[in-house]
Amino acid sequence: MSFYIAGTGSALPQKVVTNDDLATFLDTSDEWIRTRTGIRSRHVLTDERLDDLAIASAKTAMGEAGASGAELDLILCATMRADTFTPSLACTVAEAVGATAPAFDLNAACVGVLYAMEIADSFISSGKAKTVLIVSAEAMSKLLDWTDRASCVLFGDGAGAMVVRAGEGRLAGVLSTKPDSHVIRMPNIEGLNSPYNEIAQEKLAMHMDGGEVYKFAVNAMGRNIEEACARAGLTPADIDWYLPHQANLRIIDASLKKFKIDKSKVLTNIAECGNMSATSVMVLLDQFAKKGTFKRGDKLLFVAFGGGLTSGAVIITWNKD
Ligand code: ACO
Repeated sequence: MSFYIAGTGSALPQKVVTNDDLATFLDTSDEWIRTRTGIRSRHVLTDERLDDLAIASAKTAMGEAGASGAELDLILCATMRADTFTPSLACTVAEAVGATAPAFDLNAACVGVLYAMEIADSFISSGKAKTVLIVSAEAMSKLLDWTDRASCVLFGDGAGAMVVRAGEGRLAGVLSTKPDSHVIRMPNIEGLNSPYNEIAQEKLAMHMDGGEVYKFAVNAMGRNIEEACARAGLTPADIDWYLPHQANLRIIDASLKKFKIDKSKVLTNIAECGNMSATSVMVLLDQFAKKGTFKRGDKLLFVAFGGGLTSGAVIITWNKD
């Protein structure tokens, strides 16, 4: 017994920041950002709380699945930066939806939703859960160095959610790490106010070696697609829809090139959302589900890479009208 996706939701901040907006305070241009990444604009938090976006997307997904808070057996939230260290974002969502199930946050950077799907699968296949809420919410704008044009132009904020239920749907999953603490690094400010802390603080902002990330990403996405397809007894050509992590359109194209996949099968929202870390694939799923893109029986492949360095792929059959 595994799971199928019973409902999805997403919520984006109101404020849209275009590449031209960024060019008013950074030495950059719409042309550079568009041609190097595929990004045209992104949503950025201003006076909204990330919690509220997470709760809104969870409620939409639960409404679609017909799931009450009491029915949830587990709540997982993939995030790198909740509004509070404690309660976790998962507990905050649990309170808002009237759930008392175990709830915790997990951080696998941009691959967080795939890690959560695999944890949900383990709980469901072992009989510990029947209905699981997976939420993802990222406030990337609060982690960036807004003077670093090489990284801050790439990201956006947002939240998404899915309800998964015991049943036939998930076909295969593969997760891995290639530990590296330098290629992508986002320090936190733990210990800053302690009178006993004698360790010099790193700057609270993202450091990234874009070229190294690019090479890792292309390699990892291709390998994870091959492994997940092999585990499911499928070939890449059997997949109806690819939902890749939205970091860079060129990374997506380069990773999928060798599989000679029809480009219309590869879903993207990077142009309007940028890279929302873990939340990217969740929002992508919800946006295309709401458009009616998926038909019952379609095979969807999620593939992602991120800081850590983490990577993975999950294949599911869409089991919903
Ligand atoms: N505007 C204008 N010029 C810029 C900008 C910008 N926003 N950013 C960098 N440049 C300049 C550089 O300074 C460099 O100038 P120089 O040649 O005078 O030194 C030039 O553009 C070329 O820079 P490159 O790094 O070679 O550009 P590249 O084509 O490799 O693209 C990019 C850079 C977009 C960052 C690419 O490497 C990439 O997408 N890497 C992967 C990033 C990624 O996926 N991050 C997400 C990780 S997951 C996570 O964070 C959780």
